[in-house]
Amino acid sequence: MTFQNELINWYLLNKRDLPWRHTNDAYTIWLAEVILQQTRVEQGLPYFNKFLENFPTVSDFAGATEAKVLKLWQGLGYYSRGRNMHATAQIVVKDYHGIFPNLHDELIKLKGIGEYTAAAISSFSSGEARAVVDGNVFRVLSRYYGIATAINSPAGKKEFFALANELLYRDDPALYNQAIMEFGAMQCKPKSPACGICPLNQTCYAFNHKMVNELPVKKKK
Ligand code: ADE
Repeated sequence: MTFQNELINWYLLNKRDLPWRHTNDAYTIWLAEVILQQTRVEQGLPYFNKFLENFPTVSDFAGATEAKVLKLWQGLGYYSRGRNMHATAQIVVKDYHGIFPNLHDELIKLKGIGEYTAAAISSFSSGEARAVVDGNVFRVLSRYYGIATAINSPAGKKEFFALANELLYRDDPALYNQAIMEFGAMQCKPKSPACGICPLNQTCYAFNHKMVNELPVKKKK
């Protein structure tokens, strides 16, 4: 079976039931992805629910005071994320008639939305063929393919982005993107991954060369 099919099969059997996976609404997915940027799922989940309850639409978000947004954000850290979200909500109301964009090239123009977030929102909401590359994806690809280029170097970024886009499962980019991230978070974990029960272990470079703990490589800056 291909790498992509193995990942998707693993995902269908092992995925967590998370609320933002039941929607293709770009606004809802944006809320989830920005909240989860520097935050673990367990910590972010109650905030996601709270924001969606207080602001069911992007217009509700835009119409709130910044003080209210930051009050709801309390405890999450990186408050610039909350401020950027407020600014972005107001731009969506003003320039997009309150309809949250769902295409990469529009999303990337908005405050607080970088390459990862634009790829995540566009693939999950519109099915656009954009590969997500986050810490989970770097780890899975560097181990499976035995890539020792530093993930935080310009050469590494280029190499991993190119590979990620080559591998992207074009029949269902959203499913594949969720699958590789979830696989990185739950199976191909940073510390003590359960390689013995991994469905990809027979063809995994790092497992077969006893390099799981050496990959990915991150250069000290
Ligand atoms: N972390 C960031 N985005 C995520 C997603 N869509 N599902 C699970 N964890 C995530």
